[in-house]
Amino acid sequence: MNKDVYILSIETSCDETSAAITKNGRDVLSNIIYSQIEIHKKFGGVVPEVASRNHLEKISYIVDSALKEANLTFNDLSAVAVTKGPGLVGALLVGISYAKALSYSLNIPLIGVNHMKGHICANYIEHDIKPPFISMITSGGHTQLVHVKSYNDYEVLGSTRDDAVGEAFDKVARTLGLPYPGGPYIDKLAQKGKETIDFPRIYLDKESLDFSFSGIKSAVLNYINNQKQKNIEIVVEDVAASFQKAVTEVIVKKTLMALERTGAKTLALAGGVAANSGLRKEFLDHLPKDITFVYPSIKLCTDNAAMIGCAAYYEYLDNHYADMSLNAIANLKL
Ligand code: KG4
Ligand code: ZN
Repeated sequence: MNKDVYILSIETSCDETSAAITKNGRDVLSNIIYSQIEIHKKFGGVVPEVASRNHLEKISYIVDSALKEANLTFNDLSAVAVTKGPGLVGALLVGISYAKALSYSLNIPLIGVNHMKGHICANYIEHDIKPPFISMITSGGHTQLVHVKSYNDYEVLGSTRDDAVGEAFDKVARTLGLPYPGGPYIDKLAQKGKETIDFPRIYLDKESLDFSFSGIKSAVLNYINNQKQKNIEIVVEDVAASFQKAVTEVIVKKTLMALERTGAKTLALAGGVAANSGLRKEFLDHLPKDITFVYPSIKLCTDNAAMIGCAAYYEYLDNHYADMSLNAIANLKL
Protein backbone atom coordinates (compact mmCIF):
# COMPACT_ATOMS: atom_id res chain seq x y z
CA MET A 1 0.00 0.00 0.00
CA ASN A 2 1.28 3.48 -0.88
CA LYS A 3 2.10 5.80 1.98
CA ASP A 4 -0.04 8.92 2.39
CA VAL A 5 1.65 12.09 1.16
CA TYR A 6 1.44 15.05 3.53
CA ILE A 7 2.64 18.35 2.05
CA LEU A 8 3.15 21.58 3.96
CA SER A 9 2.66 24.43 1.48
CA ILE A 10 3.47 28.11 1.85
CA GLU A 11 2.09 31.05 -0.17
CA THR A 12 3.48 34.59 0.21
CA SER A 13 3.40 35.94 -3.36
CA CYS A 14 1.38 39.07 -2.65
CA ASP A 15 -0.61 40.20 0.38
CA GLU A 16 -1.74 36.92 1.95
CA THR A 17 0.49 34.93 4.28
CA SER A 18 -0.81 31.40 4.05
CA ALA A 19 0.22 27.86 5.03
CA ALA A 20 -1.69 24.63 4.46
CA ILE A 21 -1.44 20.90 4.94
CA THR A 22 -2.77 18.72 2.13
CA LYS A 23 -3.04 14.94 2.17
CA ASN A 24 -2.58 13.16 -1.16
CA GLY A 25 -3.13 16.40 -3.08
CA ARG A 26 -6.82 17.11 -2.82
CA ASP A 27 -7.59 16.52 0.84
CA VAL A 28 -7.09 19.82 2.73
CA LEU A 29 -6.36 19.24 6.43
CA SER A 30 -5.74 22.92 7.14
CA ASN A 31 -5.54 26.17 5.16
CA ILE A 32 -4.55 29.15 7.33
CA ILE A 33 -4.75 32.53 5.59
CA TYR A 34 -3.68 35.82 7.10
CA SER A 35 -4.75 38.68 4.83
CA GLN A 36 -2.87 41.98 4.90
CA ILE A 37 -5.67 43.80 3.07
CA GLU A 38 -6.49 46.04 6.05
CA ILE A 39 -2.84 47.17 6.18
CA HIS A 40 -2.62 48.01 2.45
CA LYS A 41 -6.11 49.51 2.20
CA LYS A 42 -4.99 52.94 3.38
CA PHE A 43 -2.43 53.09 0.54
CA GLY A 44 -5.02 52.11 -2.10
CA GLY A 45 -2.98 49.07 -3.19
CA VAL A 46 -0.30 46.62 -2.09
CA VAL A 47 2.96 48.24 -0.93
CA PRO A 48 5.65 45.60 -1.67
CA GLU A 49 8.04 46.45 1.18
CA VAL A 50 5.21 46.51 3.72
CA ALA A 51 3.99 43.15 2.38
CA SER A 52 7.43 41.51 2.84
CA ARG A 53 7.77 42.78 6.41
CA ASN A 54 4.35 41.50 7.37
CA HIS A 55 4.99 38.07 5.82
CA LEU A 56 8.18 37.85 7.87
CA GLU A 57 6.34 38.75 11.06
CA LYS A 58 3.56 36.20 10.56
CA ILE A 59 5.07 33.22 8.74
CA SER A 60 6.21 31.12 11.74
CA TYR A 61 2.89 31.52 13.48
CA ILE A 62 0.92 30.68 10.31
CA VAL A 63 2.97 27.52 9.61
CA ASP A 64 2.64 26.36 13.24
CA SER A 65 -1.12 26.98 13.11
CA ALA A 66 -1.43 24.93 9.89
CA LEU A 67 0.33 21.95 11.51
CA LYS A 68 -1.67 22.29 14.70
CA GLU A 69 -5.02 22.42 12.91
CA ALA A 70 -4.05 19.35 10.86
CA ASN A 71 -2.98 17.57 14.05
CA LEU A 72 0.47 16.85 12.61
CA THR A 73 4.08 17.63 13.51
CA PHE A 74 7.01 18.53 11.26
CA ASN A 75 8.10 14.88 11.35
CA ASP A 76 4.91 13.73 9.59
CA LEU A 77 5.63 15.80 6.47
CA SER A 78 6.51 14.18 3.13
CA ALA A 79 7.57 17.45 1.45
CA VAL A 80 7.46 21.22 1.75
CA ALA A 81 6.12 23.32 -1.14
CA VAL A 82 6.29 27.03 -1.77
CA THR A 83 5.16 29.56 -4.37
CA LYS A 84 8.21 30.58 -6.45
CA GLY A 85 6.42 33.12 -8.71
CA PRO A 86 4.88 35.05 -10.28
CA GLY A 87 4.55 37.69 -7.57
CA LEU A 88 6.42 40.32 -5.59
CA VAL A 89 10.05 39.26 -5.26
CA GLY A 90 10.51 40.38 -1.66
CA ALA A 91 7.26 38.76 -0.58
CA LEU A 92 8.02 35.50 -2.42
CA LEU A 93 11.49 35.33 -0.86
CA VAL A 94 10.06 35.21 2.66
CA GLY A 95 8.15 32.01 1.88
CA ILE A 96 10.99 30.53 -0.17
CA SER A 97 13.60 31.08 2.56
CA TYR A 98 11.31 29.58 5.18
CA ALA A 99 10.52 26.55 3.00
CA LYS A 100 14.20 26.00 2.19
CA ALA A 101 15.13 26.03 5.87
CA LEU A 102 12.41 23.48 6.66
CA SER A 103 13.35 21.24 3.74
CA TYR A 104 17.02 21.29 4.73
CA SER A 105 16.52 20.72 8.43
CA LEU A 106 13.84 18.02 8.03
CA ASN A 107 15.62 16.43 5.06
CA ILE A 108 12.46 16.31 2.94
CA PRO A 109 11.94 17.36 -0.72
CA LEU A 110 11.43 21.03 -1.59
CA ILE A 111 8.91 21.83 -4.33
CA GLY A 112 8.68 25.24 -6.05
CA VAL A 113 5.19 25.92 -7.37
CA ASN A 114 3.96 28.33 -10.04
CA HIS A 115 1.25 30.49 -8.44
CA MET A 116 -0.94 30.28 -11.56
CA LYS A 117 -0.87 26.47 -11.51
CA GLY A 118 -1.99 26.81 -7.90
CA HIS A 119 -5.02 28.88 -8.90
CA ILE A 120 -6.00 26.24 -11.48
CA CYS A 121 -5.46 23.37 -9.04
CA ALA A 122 -7.75 25.05 -6.46
CA ASN A 123 -10.49 23.42 -8.54
CA TYR A 124 -9.28 19.89 -7.71
CA ILE A 125 -9.94 20.43 -4.01
CA GLU A 126 -13.72 20.60 -4.33
CA HIS A 127 -14.41 19.05 -7.73
CA ASP A 128 -13.72 15.62 -9.10
CA ILE A 129 -12.23 16.86 -12.38
CA LYS A 130 -9.08 15.79 -14.16
CA PRO A 131 -7.19 16.98 -17.26
CA PRO A 132 -7.66 17.66 -20.10
CA PHE A 133 -9.69 20.82 -19.52
CA ILE A 134 -9.72 24.58 -20.14
CA SER A 135 -9.02 26.97 -17.30
CA MET A 136 -9.82 30.67 -17.42
CA ILE A 137 -7.61 32.41 -14.84
CA THR A 138 -8.87 35.84 -13.86
CA SER A 139 -6.88 37.26 -10.97
CA GLY A 140 -5.61 40.60 -9.71
CA GLY A 141 -2.31 40.21 -11.56
CA HIS A 142 -3.10 37.82 -14.42
CA THR A 143 -5.62 36.93 -17.09
CA GLN A 144 -4.91 33.70 -18.94
CA LEU A 145 -6.77 31.11 -20.94
CA VAL A 146 -5.00 27.81 -20.36
CA HIS A 147 -5.31 24.36 -21.90
CA VAL A 148 -4.48 21.93 -19.08
CA LYS A 149 -3.42 18.90 -21.11
CA SER A 150 -2.27 16.77 -18.19
CA TYR A 151 -1.42 17.42 -14.55
CA ASN A 152 1.95 18.92 -15.42
CA ASP A 153 1.43 20.02 -19.02
CA TYR A 154 -0.09 23.46 -19.49
CA GLU A 155 -0.47 25.42 -22.73
CA VAL A 156 -1.31 29.13 -22.53
CA LEU A 157 -3.80 29.90 -25.32
CA GLY A 158 -4.23 33.59 -24.56
CA SER A 159 -3.24 36.30 -22.07
CA THR A 160 -3.93 39.93 -21.41
CA ARG A 161 -1.89 42.39 -23.45
CA ASP A 162 -2.19 45.12 -20.81
CA ASP A 163 -4.17 45.18 -17.54
CA ALA A 164 -5.27 42.02 -15.75
CA VAL A 165 -9.01 41.74 -15.33
CA GLY A 166 -8.82 42.11 -11.52
CA GLU A 167 -6.65 45.17 -11.98
CA ALA A 168 -9.36 46.69 -14.21
CA PHE A 169 -12.00 45.97 -11.56
CA ASP A 170 -9.80 47.55 -8.87
CA LYS A 171 -8.99 50.66 -10.94
CA VAL A 172 -12.62 51.26 -11.91
CA ALA A 173 -13.60 50.77 -8.26
CA ARG A 174 -11.02 53.33 -7.21
CA THR A 175 -12.45 55.85 -9.67
CA LEU A 176 -15.87 55.25 -8.14
CA GLY A 177 -14.39 55.95 -4.69
CA LEU A 178 -14.67 52.35 -3.46
CA PRO A 179 -12.14 50.75 -1.06
CA TYR A 180 -9.26 48.48 -2.16
CA PRO A 181 -9.52 45.81 -3.49
CA GLY A 182 -12.59 47.01 -5.33
CA GLY A 183 -13.62 43.86 -7.25
CA PRO A 184 -16.02 42.56 -4.61
CA TYR A 185 -17.59 46.04 -4.20
CA ILE A 186 -18.20 46.33 -7.96
CA ASP A 187 -19.78 42.87 -7.83
CA LYS A 188 -22.19 43.92 -5.04
CA LEU A 189 -23.12 47.25 -6.67
CA ALA A 190 -23.61 45.58 -10.07
CA GLN A 191 -26.24 43.30 -8.56
CA LYS A 192 -28.35 46.40 -7.81
CA GLY A 193 -27.64 48.22 -11.10
CA LYS A 194 -28.84 48.14 -14.70
CA GLU A 195 -26.63 47.65 -17.77
CA THR A 196 -27.57 51.03 -19.22
CA ILE A 197 -24.16 52.24 -20.43
CA ASP A 198 -22.66 50.77 -23.59
CA PHE A 199 -18.96 50.36 -22.66
CA PRO A 200 -16.73 48.92 -25.44
CA ARG A 201 -16.12 45.19 -25.76
CA ILE A 202 -12.47 44.76 -26.81
CA TYR A 203 -11.97 41.56 -28.83
CA LEU A 204 -8.64 42.43 -30.57
CA ASP A 205 -8.23 40.26 -33.71
CA LYS A 206 -11.18 37.99 -34.42
CA GLU A 207 -9.16 34.80 -33.98
CA SER A 208 -7.08 35.93 -31.02
CA LEU A 209 -7.59 34.51 -27.55
CA ASP A 210 -5.70 37.47 -26.03
CA PHE A 211 -7.42 40.10 -23.91
CA SER A 212 -7.11 43.86 -23.41
CA PHE A 213 -8.77 45.64 -20.51
CA SER A 214 -7.08 49.04 -20.43
CA GLY A 215 -9.51 50.46 -23.04
CA ILE A 216 -12.61 49.71 -21.03
CA LYS A 217 -11.00 51.12 -17.91
CA SER A 218 -10.35 54.41 -19.79
CA ALA A 219 -13.89 54.35 -21.21
CA VAL A 220 -15.31 54.19 -17.67
CA LEU A 221 -13.03 57.06 -16.55
CA ASN A 222 -14.11 59.18 -19.56
CA TYR A 223 -17.76 58.45 -18.90
CA ILE A 224 -17.46 59.53 -15.27
CA ASN A 225 -15.56 62.72 -16.16
CA ASN A 226 -18.08 63.60 -18.89
CA GLN A 227 -21.05 63.14 -16.57
CA LYS A 228 -19.36 65.24 -13.89
CA GLN A 229 -18.63 68.05 -16.36
CA LYS A 230 -22.26 68.07 -17.44
CA ASN A 231 -23.38 67.99 -13.80
CA ILE A 232 -25.29 64.77 -14.44
CA GLU A 233 -25.60 62.48 -11.45
CA ILE A 234 -23.63 59.22 -11.77
CA VAL A 235 -25.54 56.07 -10.85
CA VAL A 236 -22.64 53.98 -9.52
CA GLU A 237 -24.72 50.80 -9.53
CA ASP A 238 -25.36 51.20 -13.28
CA VAL A 239 -21.69 52.01 -14.02
CA ALA A 240 -20.67 48.86 -12.08
CA ALA A 241 -23.26 46.67 -13.83
CA SER A 242 -22.39 47.99 -17.30
CA PHE A 243 -18.63 47.68 -16.78
CA GLN A 244 -18.96 44.16 -15.37
CA LYS A 245 -21.18 43.07 -18.26
CA ALA A 246 -18.75 44.42 -20.88
CA VAL A 247 -15.80 42.60 -19.29
CA THR A 248 -17.53 39.32 -18.60
CA GLU A 249 -19.06 39.13 -22.08
CA VAL A 250 -15.58 39.24 -23.66
CA ILE A 251 -14.16 36.68 -21.22
CA VAL A 252 -17.02 34.25 -21.88
CA LYS A 253 -16.88 34.60 -25.69
CA LYS A 254 -13.11 33.95 -25.79
CA THR A 255 -13.44 31.00 -23.41
CA LEU A 256 -16.13 29.47 -25.64
CA MET A 257 -13.71 29.82 -28.58
CA ALA A 258 -11.00 28.01 -26.58
CA LEU A 259 -13.37 25.17 -25.69
CA GLU A 260 -14.39 24.80 -29.31
CA ARG A 261 -10.81 24.87 -30.61
CA THR A 262 -9.50 22.26 -28.17
CA GLY A 263 -12.62 20.10 -27.93
CA ALA A 264 -12.28 20.18 -24.13
CA LYS A 265 -15.47 19.33 -22.27
CA THR A 266 -14.59 20.78 -18.87
CA LEU A 267 -14.12 24.42 -17.89
CA ALA A 268 -12.53 25.44 -14.58
CA LEU A 269 -12.54 29.10 -13.55
CA ALA A 270 -9.69 30.26 -11.32
CA GLY A 271 -8.27 33.32 -9.54
CA GLY A 272 -9.79 36.10 -7.46
CA VAL A 273 -12.24 37.35 -10.11
CA ALA A 274 -13.70 33.82 -10.43
CA ALA A 275 -15.57 34.89 -7.28
CA ASN A 276 -17.52 37.43 -9.37
CA SER A 277 -21.20 36.55 -9.49
CA GLY A 278 -21.73 38.30 -12.86
CA LEU A 279 -18.94 36.26 -14.47
CA ARG A 280 -20.35 33.00 -13.14
CA LYS A 281 -23.83 33.93 -14.39
CA GLU A 282 -22.56 34.95 -17.83
CA PHE A 283 -20.92 31.52 -18.15
CA LEU A 284 -23.99 29.67 -16.89
CA ASP A 285 -26.14 31.55 -19.44
CA HIS A 286 -23.89 30.80 -22.43
CA LEU A 287 -22.04 27.52 -21.93
CA PRO A 288 -23.22 24.57 -24.02
CA LYS A 289 -25.03 21.96 -21.89
CA ASP A 290 -22.37 19.28 -22.45
CA ILE A 291 -19.62 21.33 -20.75
CA THR A 292 -18.83 20.54 -17.10
CA PHE A 293 -18.42 23.92 -15.42
CA VAL A 294 -16.61 24.29 -12.08
CA TYR A 295 -15.14 27.08 -9.99
CA PRO A 296 -13.62 27.15 -6.51
CA SER A 297 -15.50 28.40 -3.46
CA ILE A 298 -14.68 32.02 -2.62
CA LYS A 299 -11.99 31.16 -0.03
CA LEU A 300 -10.15 29.04 -2.61
CA CYS A 301 -10.54 31.60 -5.45
CA THR A 302 -8.29 34.17 -3.80
CA ASP A 303 -4.70 33.49 -2.72
CA ASN A 304 -4.27 30.56 -0.31
CA ALA A 305 -1.70 27.86 0.36
CA ALA A 306 -4.00 24.84 -0.08
CA MET A 307 -4.07 25.43 -3.85
CA ILE A 308 -0.25 25.51 -3.83
CA GLY A 309 -0.16 22.21 -1.88
CA CYS A 310 -2.55 20.62 -4.36
CA ALA A 311 -0.43 21.71 -7.35
CA ALA A 312 2.73 20.55 -5.52
CA TYR A 313 1.35 17.03 -5.13
CA TYR A 314 1.37 16.47 -8.90
CA GLU A 315 4.94 17.84 -9.11
CA TYR A 316 5.84 15.48 -6.24
CA LEU A 317 4.43 12.47 -8.14
CA ASP A 318 6.70 13.40 -11.08
CA ASN A 319 9.73 13.94 -8.80
CA HIS A 320 9.92 17.62 -9.75
CA TYR A 321 11.99 18.72 -6.78
CA ALA A 322 13.83 21.99 -6.28
CA ASP A 323 17.16 22.43 -4.53
CA MET A 324 18.68 25.09 -2.31
CA SER A 325 19.22 27.34 -5.34
CA LEU A 326 15.45 27.89 -5.66
CA ASN A 327 14.82 31.59 -6.28
CA ALA A 328 11.84 33.91 -6.64
CA ILE A 329 10.84 34.73 -10.22
CA ALA A 330 8.60 37.81 -10.35
CA ASN A 331 7.27 37.17 -13.88
CA LEU A 332 7.38 33.35 -13.93
CA LYS A 333 5.46 31.94 -16.92
CA LEU A 334 3.26 28.86 -16.96
O1 KG4 B 1 -6.18 35.79 -7.29
P1 KG4 B 1 -6.12 36.94 -6.36
O2 KG4 B 1 -6.43 36.73 -4.92
O3 KG4 B 1 -4.72 37.64 -6.39
C1 KG4 B 1 -3.82 37.56 -7.43
O4 KG4 B 1 -3.12 36.52 -7.56
O5 KG4 B 1 -3.79 38.55 -8.18
O6 KG4 B 1 -7.10 38.05 -6.98
C2 KG4 B 1 -7.37 39.26 -6.38
C3 KG4 B 1 -8.28 40.03 -7.32
C4 KG4 B 1 -8.48 41.50 -6.93
O7 KG4 B 1 -8.29 42.28 -8.08
C5 KG4 B 1 -9.93 41.55 -6.47
O8 KG4 B 1 -10.54 42.80 -6.67
C6 KG4 B 1 -10.55 40.49 -7.33
O9 KG4 B 1 -9.59 39.45 -7.35
N1 KG4 B 1 -11.85 39.99 -6.81
C7 KG4 B 1 -13.02 40.19 -7.44
C8 KG4 B 1 -14.02 39.60 -6.63
N2 KG4 B 1 -13.40 39.04 -5.54
C9 KG4 B 1 -12.05 39.28 -5.67
N3 KG4 B 1 -13.30 40.83 -8.59
C10 KG4 B 1 -14.59 40.88 -8.98
N4 KG4 B 1 -15.60 40.34 -8.26
C11 KG4 B 1 -15.37 39.70 -7.10
N5 KG4 B 1 -16.38 39.16 -6.40
ZN1 ZN C 1 -3.31 34.84 -6.97
